[in-house]
Amino acid sequence: MAGVGALGGGALGPDLTGSYEKYGGAQGLGSSLEAMTFPTMAPIFAGKPLTVGERADLVAFLAAAPTQERTAGAAGKLIGLSVGLAVLIVLAALVFWRRRLTGVRRPLVSSAREG
Ligand code: HEM
Repeated sequence: MAGVGALGGGALGPDLTGSYEKYGGAQGLGSSLEAMTFPTMAPIFAGKPLTVGERADLVAFLAAAPTQERTAGAAGKLIGLSVGLAVLIVLAALVFWRRRLTGVRRPLVSSAREG
């Protein structure tokens, strides 16, 4: 959903940014969540249906979604996360594979010194 965190939410279900409009506003979306008309979600919520309060909160949250554009700050956060992760991967590689060249280099160096 637009405006949720730096990554914009997960990828398991569809993008919910326009779902308030799509399901006909508070009334329609509220009853879809009550009847749980979405096949993947139905078994998950079967034993623990959303309460009236939870549905109202979710409807209000989804209603506000289309007004929350992804901000420049969020894009910056995403770039920061990517760079940070790349640096971590390089550091981890340096630590875990620090001996990767010594098997080749040492015998070469010692034979050069002896010769
Ligand atoms: C209270 C939390 C949740 C809300 C408010 C919510 C809301 C919605 C809505 C409005 C749709 C319809 C989207 C569309 O047709 O464009 C949808 C579909 C879907 N949701 Fe959720 N969802 C929730 C939790 C979950 C969970 C926990 C899962 C799975 C672990 C899930 C998986 C899916 C999937 C796969 C779809 C696509 C339709 C289907 O296959 O049933 N949702 N959700």
